Amino acid sequence: MVKKIAILTSGGDCAGLNAVIRAATIRAVNKYKWQIFGIKDGTLGLMTDPLNVVELKPSNFDGNLMRMGGTFLGTNSKGYPSHEEVIKGFKKMELDALIGIGGDGSMKILKTLTEKGKINFVGIPKTIDNDVMDNELSIGYDTAVDVATNALDMLQPTAASHRRAMILEVMGRDAGHIALNSGIAGGADVILIPERPYTIKAIAKHIEKIRSNGRNHALIVVAEAVKKEDGSKATVKYIDGQIRLSGIGSYIGDKIYKMTNAETRVTVLGHVQRGAQPTHRDRLIASAFGVHAVDLIAQEKFNRVVVWQNRGVTDVDLESIAGKSKTVRDNDPLIKVAEGLGIYVGEINKVL
Ligand code: F6P
Repeated sequence: MVKKIAILTSGGDCAGLNAVIRAATIRAVNKYKWQIFGIKDGTLGLMTDPLNVVELKPSNFDGNLMRMGGTFLGTNSKGYPSHEEVIKGFKKMELDALIGIGGDGSMKILKTLTEKGKINFVGIPKTIDNDVMDNELSIGYDTAVDVATNALDMLQPTAASHRRAMILEVMGRDAGHIALNSGIAGGADVILIPERPYTIKAIAKHIEKIRSNGRNHALIVVAEAVKKEDGSKATVKYIDGQIRLSGIGSYIGDKIYKMTNAETRVTVLGHVQRGAQPTHRDRLIASAFGVHAVDLIAQEKFNRVVVWQNRGVTDVDLESIAGKSKTVRDNDPLIKVAEGLGIYVGEINKVL
């Protein structure tokens, strides 16, 4: 009997999503002769009448789709859709299994949803934040780090020309992986991540040291989730009421300017970290994840999440990772590397 499966992207988009949809489609159709449907706009495509779904064929991917950022299926990161309607939509499709591509938040939602609806589920981790538990690399992360590193490459000459301290604010809602990795790769002097407390005084001292060593400029990377010294988060409220992290770069920039008299400028990198063309590594992981997810369905192994561990693809129990966040630990080898390079990476977090 031909199996019928579906795939959807959920939460914020990132680079590599089209590549994973392609891999799952090729595997499902060519190897197993199944039908595979793409659900549009995350779970929202299951809530419309008629359902907003498309049948996927390997020929859909003959063009340049897998090289492109974004998700051609669309996604949704706004709010929590009604479980009942989504489950109703899923039942209407008479599917044998669902592949959900999402970050830690989406995994939690999809777990509840698929448990309630008794839906056979396999998850694939994607998030530029790279904070999915037990998974070394999420789709989209490598590209985001590349974009942030390129930004530092472009900020350095202008920083040197004007004798400035340039602050680059990067994404990372709960975790500092993008900041830490791009900061090291891009030659930053200061890297601030939400996992490690910092003091403005220590940053100022570090800049004074750079100055007294004869360098006229500095690069500072700060993750958007870093808190102000009073413990509050820097946020913006959009006119529809949604609140997002933003503004910690300006806060740090002003404080440093005041304390050191080093002229500062702030760049908020924002969504360009998500929309770039996927790097080779993101396409590679996406391809491995897509094939593995379909193979899990063929073996009727459900409630699993495909992960990257020890330079290869494997899978873990959905239960063990849903709703958990992989943050930067004090014993992260890259903290040692940063410190070894003389980068200020905040202080040891006594709470962790
Ligand atoms: O979780 C991924 C992420 O890109 C975060 O790094 C960022 O804080 C957030 O999504 C932005 O969300 P939105 O696309 O809703 O602005």
